[in-house]
Amino acid sequence: MTTATPTPPAAEAQPAATVLSATGVTMRFGGLTAVQNVDLTVNSGEIVGLIGPNGAGKTTFFNCLTGLYTPTEGTVSYKDKVLPHKSHLVTQAGVARTFQNIRLFANMTVLENVLVGRHTRTKEGLLSALLRGPGFRRAENQSEQRAMELLEFTGLAAKRDHLARNLPYGEQRKLEIARALASDPGLLLLDEPTAGMNPQETRATQDLVFAIRDQGTAVLVIEHDMRFIFNLCDRVAVLVQGRKLVEGTPDVVQSDERVVAAYLGTPYEGDTSAETAPEDGPEDTTGTTSTKDTEGGTA
Ligand SMILES: Nc1ncnc2c1ncn2[C@@H]1O[C@H](COP(=O)(O)OP(=O)(O)OP(=O)(O)O)[C@@H](O)[C@H]1O
Ligand SMILES: [Mg+2]
Repeated sequence: MTTATPTPPAAEAQPAATVLSATGVTMRFGGLTAVQNVDLTVNSGEIVGLIGPNGAGKTTFFNCLTGLYTPTEGTVSYKDKVLPHKSHLVTQAGVARTFQNIRLFANMTVLENVLVGRHTRTKEGLLSALLRGPGFRRAENQSEQRAMELLEFTGLAAKRDHLARNLPYGEQRKLEIARALASDPGLLLLDEPTAGMNPQETRATQDLVFAIRDQGTAVLVIEHDMRFIFNLCDRVAVLVQGRKLVEGTPDVVQSDERVVAAYLGTPYEGDTSAETAPEDGPEDTTGTTSTKDTEGGTA
């Protein structure tokens, strides 16, 4: 009989650290209030979903979080530091994002697109780059190595030399994620990452988001695909007409009558066998039709 090895005492349960904290965020465009007094936190190790009808203010909220917009009111902090209203400084601080309308450098290769995303993490300056000294070459090699790791991670390594514009749509979305990860973010914001994807690609994206979380990057994700959101997220917040209507676990949110009335349209009824989202609700829930260009700015 073998002697049982003593099990170590259970680690003290630590409260999860807050990674993102948005407080009272309001964004007005003239007379239109696109986002109204929204509070949201994301803790380390979490995947949080943001859902709501078309035009609810989800992308505008992301733009406020990532420095593309200066909110009319409210503050956004990342790891207890207030974020500046400049997108490159937000990226440098540790918050990366993808865009609802894909923004890749179409005529650059897959690898080059990821290297561009790496830029905020390289210290070598312009002079060093011009002189192409040993420091620059070392940094370049490290960047390329990291970029290739990310292409492996996202399943795009075999396409490293393809032009971004020649990738199928689903792979362009993955490349956007790889590029965002190249800045080594502590928080990744995904704006409709599965829009236009087929069911297999959507499932692969779900696994990819879990893997990103498991590697230590918290995730905030906007999606219209309810199966994707409710499978993936620890917590879900619902925006309707710029306001946060409900926030809670997927179970709580999908059975909330106000959410059903304002967004889901048909009772979700916890039908796990349903392969498709409700078709007769007020909104498209497949995530394939939200292509309005409302992201503002040119990041
Ligand atoms: N730069 C802008 N100027 C004026 N109005 C804007 C601007 N950006 C967004 N809006 C308006 O703000 C509201 C919220 O838009 P937003 O794109 O944030 O919605 P959304 O929830 O992301 O919708 P979707 O699901 O369709 O992507 C809309 O009425 C939109 O027209
Ligand atoms: Mg949007």
